[in-house]
Amino acid sequence: MAKISVVGSCSMDLVVTSKKRPLAGETVLGESFKTVPGGKGANQAVAAARLGAEVKMIGRVGDDHFGEAILHNLKINGVHTGYVEPVTGMESGTAHIVLAEGDNSIVVVKAANDEVTPAYIDKALEALKASDMVLIQHEIPEETVAYVSEICAKYKIPLLLNPAPARSIEQSIIEKAAYITPNQHEAAILFGGTSVAEVLRKYPNKLFVTEGSNGVRYFDGHQEVLIPAYKVEAVDTTGAGDTFNAAFAVALAEGKPLAESVKFGNRAASLSVMKFGAQGGMPTRQEVEENLK
Ligand code: ATP
Ligand code: RIB
Repeated sequence: MAKISVVGSCSMDLVVTSKKRPLAGETVLGESFKTVPGGKGANQAVAAARLGAEVKMIGRVGDDHFGEAILHNLKINGVHTGYVEPVTGMESGTAHIVLAEGDNSIVVVKAANDEVTPAYIDKALEALKASDMVLIQHEIPEETVAYVSEICAKYKIPLLLNPAPARSIEQSIIEKAAYITPNQHEAAILFGGTSVAEVLRKYPNKLFVTEGSNGVRYFDGHQEVLIPAYKVEAVDTTGAGDTFNAAFAVALAEGKPLAESVKFGNRAASLSVMKFGAQGGMPTRQEVEENLK
């Protein structure tokens, strides 16, 4: 069983569906409102656990009702929560999502997720050292991402950096990560001024650019490869990237070849977009394998 540690955010998603996305200064009437578990870290942890990995979440929640619900959700999905400590007197992270016109718009309030500090990471060092793969994203402080990248380099643990949401980062983090998985927008910010084709060549078998319903692009050392996405009826694409990252990581940690791992990631992600909510459609191992046949 692949041992995966996820260092990242745990949030509650507050999701409004609406026919129209409001413009600045405009009010529109929505259709529904739902509260569902989210946060890129927790999403990736849940996706990896459903795919059969042994998963440890390293993150923080607030000491509020959302924090309790987030912890409960991780536990019922089989994620180890011993390294998810509530922060006293602080609120849990929230993501304020509008689903409209076939896409999402998201405002994230990090709150307790900002307390995933380097000092906090030290408490989880043993978990990191025992991992086959570590996953990290950008909804926690950048200094923590840098710190975890140093730990992974020191102990030779492959680090998968999902640089979402977009921000530019130190070159040393890019060098230390084993795999980097931006979407096209994040790639433009990360490698500003350089074309995708150029950066893919610079980081063969390391940089994987996700292109939504188009699939995933990388350079295999000889040529640029596009592994196409599966054609499905998309209901909600929130969390597609998280599902791809988790599935890709699980497959790699199990020793699957690169192209096969991307394909596994695409399949899991395509199933995830067929249901509402970031975690609502995240498939089990059996569902992915049946669909891959
Ligand atoms: P999000 O932030 O919404 O979680 P993202 O922008 O990080 O997603 P995308 O590039 O949109 O990531 O999608 C990640 C992967 O999910 C794609 O490479 C693809 O495999 C799958 N995917 C996304 N959208 C679709 C879709 N409409 N149909 C099939 N597969 C999809
Ligand atoms: O990647 C999807 C996630 O990003 C959502 O669950 C939301 O929490 C946002 O942070």
